[in-house]
Amino acid sequence: MNYNKKTVYDIDVAGKKVLLRCDFNVPQDKATGAITSDKRIVAALPTIQYLLGQGAAVIACSHLGKPEPSFEKWVKKQTEKGKDPAELTEEKWRKSLQKLTLAPVAERLSELLGKSVIFAHDVVGPDAKAKAAALRGGEIMLLENTRFEKGETKNDPALARELASMAELYVSDAFGSVHRAHASTAGVSAYLPAVSGLLVAKELEVMGKALNDPKRPFVAVLGGAKVSDKIAVINNLLEKADTVIIGGGMAYTFAKAQGGEIGKSLLEEDKCAYALEMIEKAKAKGVKLLLPVDTVAAKEFSADAAPVVVDTMHIPADMMGMDIGPKTIELFCAATRGAGTIVWNGPMGVFEFPAFANGTKAMAKALAESGAVTIIGGGDSAAAAEQLGFADKITHISTGGGASLEFLEGKELPGVACLLDK
Ligand code: 3PG
Repeated sequence: MNYNKKTVYDIDVAGKKVLLRCDFNVPQDKATGAITSDKRIVAALPTIQYLLGQGAAVIACSHLGKPEPSFEKWVKKQTEKGKDPAELTEEKWRKSLQKLTLAPVAERLSELLGKSVIFAHDVVGPDAKAKAAALRGGEIMLLENTRFEKGETKNDPALARELASMAELYVSDAFGSVHRAHASTAGVSAYLPAVSGLLVAKELEVMGKALNDPKRPFVAVLGGAKVSDKIAVINNLLEKADTVIIGGGMAYTFAKAQGGEIGKSLLEEDKCAYALEMIEKAKAKGVKLLLPVDTVAAKEFSADAAPVVVDTMHIPADMMGMDIGPKTIELFCAATRGAGTIVWNGPMGVFEFPAFANGTKAMAKALAESGAVTIIGGGDSAAAAEQLGFADKITHISTGGGASLEFLEGKELPGVACLLDK
């Protein structure tokens, strides 16, 4: 796919009304609704500040969470979850939507920008339309959660047209959502000139270079629970990398496929053949494929379970693998030394439990000290690097979880494909 897309620097934005798609899908405290990390809001600031500085009027928009915009479908889903249909009132549905209002994001954005952010209480309704019409150059407003509109996730052209009608230009800066073909991430580009913001441009440049013109040796570190989530990424990286390291829960499927005893560890039986195929592919391509040789196992999945180091191919029947072991840490870290580029996606073990965080911690430290260009795909591995205090020593931590994974898989990203070519 072509990543050479026009950015806000390649088009005249001065005095224009700009519809800016951000990814303000921020984590929130379940009880209070407070934003627990404003990283994604901070990441959007350079583009917003640039646009405002150029005298543009910025109509920002984003989704937040996964609200159900149809009352009937909400009732159906809740009933399937075992709720009593008699108690599922329209008022409760509205309350469930209100929990996902973007109002707290408008407030935080306003604090970060040091200027007021006008908040529209709908997406393309009368409030949004009136406020957008009155918005002047240098001002910014935020629309309500785009997923409150039924047409958003269906990429409904009617909704895309309504969104576009408020602006003269579309800027895509929601890297975390570019893998979604939704009305506000892709559809709207049919009605407005569409360019990327500075965050999307940076993500594409750094990750695109790592994949297509990496400083070698290029080492890919893949972890996470399931092989099935990483099938396409392992396959694609075996085409590009010099070394592929596989840790995390999915490594046990590779062990089992090779005749190992893996006890109660995570297993995707139907992916064993695929695991063997990947091992063969690595051999045929001359790519070094590293798998764990020892494992920190425990009798149950809990933070205070007693950790025991065992051979990965001989995990006792009553135990499950929870982290990579010390020999594996040494093996994996040695493979990162001297690397030119390291891309990491997915933790090495259950890093949320301190007793099983050593593998993930060691990997984060190895990346931080490698001297290589280091890139962490968002999601769990980004959270791990932050939680463990290595984030500021990593070249680039992607703001996209699913999006960075699909990027590493080599898939076309609808939110990028729709932008104007350079
Ligand atoms: C994310 O958090 O990965 C993005 O905001 C996309 O969210 P979604 O999975 O709900 O589309």
